[in-house]
Amino acid sequence: MRILFIGDIVGKSGRDIVSSLLYSLKKEYDIDLVIANAENSAHGKGITIRIYRQLMDAGIDYITMGNHTYSKAEINKYMEEMNRIIVPYNHSMRSSDNYYKIIEYKGLKICLTNILGTVLIPETSIDQYTSFNHVIEETASLNPDFYFVDFHAETTAEKRLFAEYFSDYAKVVVGTHTHVQTADEDLINGCAFISDVGMCGAYESIIGRDIDETIRANIDNEKTVYTIAEGPAVFCAVIIDIDENKRIPTGISRIQIRP
Ligand SMILES: [Fe+2]
Ligand SMILES: [Fe+2]
Repeated sequence: MRILFIGDIVGKSGRDIVSSLLYSLKKEYDIDLVIANAENSAHGKGITIRIYRQLMDAGIDYITMGNHTYSKAEINKYMEEMNRIIVPYNHSMRSSDNYYKIIEYKGLKICLTNILGTVLIPETSIDQYTSFNHVIEETASLNPDFYFVDFHAETTAEKRLFAEYFSDYAKVVVGTHTHVQTADEDLINGCAFISDVGMCGAYESIIGRDIDETIRANIDNEKTVYTIAEGPAVFCAVIIDIDENKRIPTGISRIQIRP
């Protein structure tokens, strides 16, 4: 089984590159399942019902989120339709139990979940270790073969530590949130890991945000609205291979397509 995991989709540039590349990438790499982080898909913060439908139409099967999950109120209003979204277990605004999904494929049962890190993420309610232990306890009766975690966190050390500590349970740990792809993809004690998958968003930007505005906001202390950069995008993802007979991942490799 081959899973494509797409890093944080940021704004229109990000959505457009995913829509234009996904069909051919699925064919070229023989992809069985597509998961994407879409916490920034609606103008950098959150997701809307229109964008959810657009991403599903583009060929994404499941969506994970992050600290910006609830930035647009539509996620609660259309929760029933947006049932392929998995939200972070430990987001302080989470109000329902859509923090995991059991994915079944040829007898294999993967539990997909989403966890926030603690460093520099004020939306986090409970630390990642307590949180993931709760997820394991609460889903144990469903007997998943292993967990696939989108670990949405700021620092590389938090991410590596999470994968090392939980490698008996989490056989895939993909980092998101920093929007910059790291070159450390590897199997760690059998867990397919990368610190950060990177983003799909405007290449000439500061992690997706307009450069000029980011300078004005941070250096000149100007009050600004949050403006997403426009223009050609970078596409970042990883491919995870899973041996469905042995029920373990066998490899992880990076994709980065620059304009
Ligand atoms: Fe993000
Ligand atoms: Fe984030």
